[in-house]
Amino acid sequence: MLKFLIFGDIVGRTGRQALQKILPSLKKQYKPNLVIANAENAAHGSGVTHKTLREMQLAGVDFFTNGDHCFDKPEVEQILTETDSPLLRPANMVEVTGVGEKLLTLATKKVLVVNLLGRVFIENNLEKKGEDKQRKIKLSNPFTVMEEILAKYADEKIDAILLDFHTEATSEQVAMGYFLDGRVAAVWGTHTHVPTADARILSKGTGFITDVGMTGAKDTVIGVAKENVIERFVKENDAKFEWPETEMAMVNALYVEVDPKTKNTKKIKLIQKEIKI
Ligand SMILES: [Fe+2]
Ligand SMILES: [Fe+2]
Repeated sequence: MLKFLIFGDIVGRTGRQALQKILPSLKKQYKPNLVIANAENAAHGSGVTHKTLREMQLAGVDFFTNGDHCFDKPEVEQILTETDSPLLRPANMVEVTGVGEKLLTLATKKVLVVNLLGRVFIENNLEKKGEDKQRKIKLSNPFTVMEEILAKYADEKIDAILLDFHTEATSEQVAMGYFLDGRVAAVWGTHTHVPTADARILSKGTGFITDVGMTGAKDTVIGVAKENVIERFVKENDAKFEWPETEMAMVNALYVEVDPKTKNTKKIKLIQKEIKI
């Protein structure tokens, strides 16, 4: 069996500290062959840096996916182009650095990890920060891009294909699950920061959940200080967002067990914990 421990969005310092605290015991319990986390909010809620990526690697994460906040920190361009970079960017971002899928070798097994970004309620002209401020990032169709990726690797002997589909709309996520049912081992959602109660194995064997949920500060509005977000809604203003560091953290993760013979999911389970940092 191939065992995966998958985290959704790791938000800020509290999220990184929560990983450090909880990963040793989760690894002991689940014995994963690979630990994956979404890094788009790792650096103070916005993007990822060398330092924050390293911290999460030291905590025990092997490989990282991304999302709409991918290019929030300029140094990500460098991370994405390093040889053997452990970081993906969404495969359907048009004309940006980095790659959106990677074939990993785990002892005798091969695992293809793919990252895509949804387009429903997500701006299709994402602002690219850093040196290239004027450039906007366009998104191509995540469904057809996934077809192209599957075709590209059709001749490879792959034991498990995994997809982090970073979406706002539940419909887009569920549609992707059925679109890929039986063709990939697992599809999970990230981005909303809120876990959904629908972890299941679809009829043709693909493990699926609409959103894994975030790992980060408790008592926040999806990672942001609740007062800031409430003020924006009540006063309809532009209240500044703060990303608090709290004593208590929410941890959400997905455990997926894949049978390399069938390349399908045998077991899928959402892990939810609250821990003291
Ligand atoms: Fe996020
Ligand atoms: Fe996101």
